[in-house]
Amino acid sequence: MNESLKEMPLHGTSLLEHYQRSAQAGVEQARCLPLAVYNDPAVYVAEVSRVFHNDWVFACAEDRLLEVGQYYAMTLAGEPVVLIRGKDGELRALSNLCRHRGTPLLDEGYGKLGRNIVCPYHAWTFSDTGEFKGAPMTGEISIDKAEHCLPRFAVASWHGLIFINLAAAPQPFSEKVVGLAPYLTAFELSAFTHSYQLKSEHWQANWKLAVENGIESYHLFKVHKETLEAVTPTRQAYYVAGGADWSLSGGKMQDNRSKLEKLLGNSWLSGGYPEAYQHYLLIFLPPSFIGVLTYEGLNWIHILPQGPEHCSVTPGGLLQHKLSASDLKSDEIAFTHQFLLEDQLICERVQRGTHARKGQGGKLVSMEKILVDFRQYLARQLFGAVPDACLETAEAARFKGDRT
Ligand code: FES
Ligand SMILES: [Fe+2]
Repeated sequence: MNESLKEMPLHGTSLLEHYQRSAQAGVEQARCLPLAVYNDPAVYVAEVSRVFHNDWVFACAEDRLLEVGQYYAMTLAGEPVVLIRGKDGELRALSNLCRHRGTPLLDEGYGKLGRNIVCPYHAWTFSDTGEFKGAPMTGEISIDKAEHCLPRFAVASWHGLIFINLAAAPQPFSEKVVGLAPYLTAFELSAFTHSYQLKSEHWQANWKLAVENGIESYHLFKVHKETLEAVTPTRQAYYVAGGADWSLSGGKMQDNRSKLEKLLGNSWLSGGYPEAYQHYLLIFLPPSFIGVLTYEGLNWIHILPQGPEHCSVTPGGLLQHKLSASDLKSDEIAFTHQFLLEDQLICERVQRGTHARKGQGGKLVSMEKILVDFRQYLARQLFGAVPDACLETAEAARFKGDRT
């Protein structure tokens, strides 16, 4: 082949083939993905339909949707969806798009529904279960009620977190997280009952860059020198277990002894809690939920695609029941905003590099094993590739077993 052709950027089918080969590579062979997969519109379309519209995607915490009529409206990779607690007590995920001419119905965010959902355009009306109730001034035209209901999607609740799946026949959520439970027993997840959610940020970066950055700890010492590195140092981070369905990594937290004493009294002195309380456990549920579990709660960032080169990043969390939302101090919120700004700047910088024609990425290092899991997930969703078996390291023992 002519040398100059070899240097040509990969597009269309050849880019997808290159993407597949890179994404299914095991830990020994893993390299940076072809840079164009972080900006290519055809890759983006494939990811929206085979990943975000065909798997369980995080929505919000359930404690905001416990009362009848409470709802949360969001756009899931271009698809307006609303979660509503119905009068019958059931939580449903409905299309948030009017069946008349496609107007988004409820405004995005949390709210409380009156009797029905009324379209802001011509006032077509739907019940809280998505049933078509009526339309004003239809003249001679009769509207088939059954044909004009709002489509309904699958919902799953997991430790107070709500996930939605837009697929017609979704795999049960329980199959996605099978095998994960034994690693979570050190922490008292059932006591994490108070949620908070901060404002979504918009980054000029492909969603995969934000996810990869959110799951690997390799960059902490450099990007977060003054922030996260002081709390969770890179050198004390490790891989725990995982594969294509989920991944866990962990690390030692610096100097959290005084906080532990405050929360747990002097049980610290008698060794009355697990060693895991001095560590964090990062839970990655692909495609885009990244939670950091500690004895205090579960803090997450959730990433959603907003186009080939844009994504939204939403921070939130579930706090331990002895804490309340008012315990989330302004300096802790400021800390979150600060390290997210550091992440945003580095992700947007990488995004600018993805348009290079001559440059290319290289090998991943062992600390980036969690990125291999994510790629194998992508290879399975996009290309039907068979992922490697789940792997567990010796670090897992710290988190498994009974709480003592
Ligand atoms: S678009 Fe909703 S009523 Fe017309
Ligand atoms: Fe980061």
